[in-house]
Amino acid sequence: MASTSATLPSATTAPTTGPPLPPNSTRLPQTAQLDALLTIIRDKGTSRSDFIFYSDRIIRLLVEEGLNHLPTLEKTVQTPTGLPYKGVSFEGRICGVSILRAGEAMESGLRECCRSVRIGKILIQRDEETAKPKLFYAKLPEDISQRWVLLLDPMLATGGSVMQAIDVLLQQGVPQDRILFLNLVASPEGLQAVYKKFPQVRVICGWVDDGLDENNYIVPGLGDFGDRYWSS
Ligand code: PRP
Ligand code: URA
Repeated sequence: MASTSATLPSATTAPTTGPPLPPNSTRLPQTAQLDALLTIIRDKGTSRSDFIFYSDRIIRLLVEEGLNHLPTLEKTVQTPTGLPYKGVSFEGRICGVSILRAGEAMESGLRECCRSVRIGKILIQRDEETAKPKLFYAKLPEDISQRWVLLLDPMLATGGSVMQAIDVLLQQGVPQDRILFLNLVASPEGLQAVYKKFPQVRVICGWVDDGLDENNYIVPGLGDFGDRYWSS
């Protein structure tokens, strides 16, 4: 019989790794599957097509988790057996807002779960020297203040970009507690910064890494998500 050194994960208990999170943040269940998907996209030798494919799989997990945080109302339906089923339905309307360019990669995952969802866009770019964010453009649904907002950006490093995007949403009348920020990899510094400024914004991350390097890149991280997904 062939021997193997692979570890068989428990189906029910997922180890939680990493530092404790601020109260407004949650992590996806830290399963072996998620770690395996992240390991592929972290690998600098991964091809662009694999990077896209496996990032999209993690994005789908994040979107599904984000939807778990939306409010529901009781709803009873009749099943084909003639019996009622007391279930729930989503209460409010939603929209997505992607922080371009990298956040655009998360739009199709959202559309796969929420058909014809409205999507707004905010173009923010970090200055390559200073890592300070610069806002170029925002186009949002007119009734965004009436919606729950799934804010999309795969990377949370210093937090500068997402905090600028949240400012734009607040200026449009979106209450903090109706914003759910979905990201694949976060730094502890970024999570703390967002919590300090916007304690009611909910943050859902795939993984929390060790910190930032001297260029304000997440470490160990995965490099420049936008470049790897869209251009390199
Ligand atoms: C990346 C990333 C975030 C931001 C994170 O975008 O997608 O928007 O940096 O860093 P921060 O938390 O320190 O602000 P970037 O500005 O590099 O542009 P891109 O989307 O075109 O890659
Ligand atoms: N933007 C990225 O794409 N990666 C980082 O690590 C930091 C900012």
